[in-house]
Amino acid sequence: MYEGGSVKVAVVGATGAVGETLLRVLEEREVPVSELGAFASRFRPDAAAFRGRRCDVHETSEAALRGYDAIFFAGSDEASERYVPALLERGAIVIDNSATYRMEPGVPLIVPEVNPQAVLPTHRLFPVGNCTAIILCVALAPVRTAAGLVRAQVATYQAVSGAGRAGLDELAAGERALADGRPEPHPQAFAAAIARNVIPQIGSFDAAGWSGEENKVRAETRKILDLPDLAIAVTSVRVPVRTAHSEAVFFETERATSVAELAAAFERAPGVAYHAEAIVTPREVEGTDAVHVARLRGGAALEADPRESQRHFQMWIVGDQLRKGAATNAVQILELAIARGAVTSA
Ligand SMILES: NC(=O)c1ccc[n+]([C@@H]2O[C@H](COP(=O)([O-])OP(=O)(O)OC[C@H]3O[C@@H](n4cnc5c(N)ncnc54)[C@H](OP(=O)(O)O)[C@@H]3O)[C@@H](O)[C@H]2O)c1
Repeated sequence: MYEGGSVKVAVVGATGAVGETLLRVLEEREVPVSELGAFASRFRPDAAAFRGRRCDVHETSEAALRGYDAIFFAGSDEASERYVPALLERGAIVIDNSATYRMEPGVPLIVPEVNPQAVLPTHRLFPVGNCTAIILCVALAPVRTAAGLVRAQVATYQAVSGAGRAGLDELAAGERALADGRPEPHPQAFAAAIARNVIPQIGSFDAAGWSGEENKVRAETRKILDLPDLAIAVTSVRVPVRTAHSEAVFFETERATSVAELAAAFERAPGVAYHAEAIVTPREVEGTDAVHVARLRGGAALEADPRESQRHFQMWIVGDQLRKGAATNAVQILELAIARGAVTSA
């Protein structure tokens, strides 16, 4: 078993939006990293930073990843498919931000505020859930505990950095072109021009009309909350915000409850910042780890029968999807895995 008190860590995708945030979060949370390897699709000198020092980013290969105790993947689905199986075979811990392994049976989808008990010492593979689903689950878990949860309807307002560096670059280029009165570049990262616009499509549509993102949020929310029968509908929308996803959430509880009881549950909930009065916007939560819950209200306006209104509520939630939706959640998983003895020395 791993007993050294420090871990050899590799980050694949270290030059990307999530990978850079991972390096920052590992540093901020003072994870006992004895050796840090930064990897991407090709070599770049001094292209990453860790603990105040520049470091080289190496080309990813099976051989180069040998010798690390824990490997974070924040690259492409293809990179995870290619390198993860061999790493698992030799007993390394893999924490994977791609969608590749999230829905595999027997593989836990951990959000430490929601289902930390699902981390066992024998687990090696830890997919990190979809960012919108993680933010949603942190906010819905206290509802599930307080009053049961039977239904959620969600409209999302997702930041461009959800599409990585390419998304950030495309918004900036579009904004510059519009400001200068030049034609906008043809959209590549998104389904339409994103500057001064909103786009009701994230991923491709299936035969029934759901987008890839909507299907991920539905399936992963059920898995994380361990509510396989949860009725959940999602409309995913890209908005011209740089970082932090917002979600308007309508939910129905199993038992009658009240705004006051739910507010108390949010106040107690790990990872939630509850705002009783103020509104919350994505720009102001950028760089924070909490899921911010605001505008909680009852559904009286929707129901003729007042008893029904005690089970129907709405809220507005916002979270930095590069941090809690990806990097922070991933680092918290490593911390849990270390605490539960799942990390073994390379
Ligand atoms: N952005 C988010 O909010 C978010 C949230 C949750 C999960 N995720 C997931 O996290 C992963 C990274 O997303 P991102 O937004 O950070 O993307 P990104 O900004 O485009 O960065 C991708 C990174 O992966 C590297 N990479 C790409 N293909 C690779 C390969 N075959 N081998 C090794 N490295 C490779 C890139 O290196 P080069 O520069 O050398 O190509 C770059 O460092 C994706 O799976 C994404 O779905 C993203």
